[in-house]
Amino acid sequence: MAKKIAVFASGSGSNFQVIAEQFPVAFVFSDKRDAYVLERAQNLGVMSYAFELKEFENKADYEQAIVELLREHEIDLVVLAGYMKIVSSTLLSAYEGRIINIHPAYLPEFPGAHGIEDAWNAGVSESGVTVHWVDSGVDTGQIIKQVRVPCLADDTIETFEARIHEAEYKLYPEVLERLGVEKK
Ligand code: GRF
Repeated sequence: MAKKIAVFASGSGSNFQVIAEQFPVAFVFSDKRDAYVLERAQNLGVMSYAFELKEFENKADYEQAIVELLREHEIDLVVLAGYMKIVSSTLLSAYEGRIINIHPAYLPEFPGAHGIEDAWNAGVSESGVTVHWVDSGVDTGQIIKQVRVPCLADDTIETFEARIHEAEYKLYPEVLERLGVEKK
């Protein structure tokens, strides 16, 4: 049976776009009602859902609503792509081992929300991109695949960031294929 995926994103959704152009995506979830990813989903004809943590009593209720969506759509793999919330116990216990994330640095180097800026500010000559399983830590789960990305002498943070994103757009589809997600 084909593996069904859902993509979670909080912002622009460029990784979602690359994935959705190559793989069937059952739905997109955003924790921001005004995220640009929702417009991308509409343009690509992908179903989307958006609700915000602040609309719930607590994080457990918020994540329970997410778990219900995942169950309703019989999702096999949750693909985090710029989802800017920590996955907590309600979602993790329901889907542990079935959630992956992409991080714009070569973990365990530069975990956290600013992987690109942190590498840039550290003056590295190379950074990278990592896809990993999600556990209860921040960017600590088992690494599935990672690639190195150089930081060149004449880079600006913008050109460096663009090179990181290009590597992401290649790596995430490769990992999805490796995990048995069928292409369109
Ligand atoms: C990506 O760099 C991803 O690695 C990080 O957040 C960014 C999301 O970008 N976790 P986009 O929303 O896919 O354009």
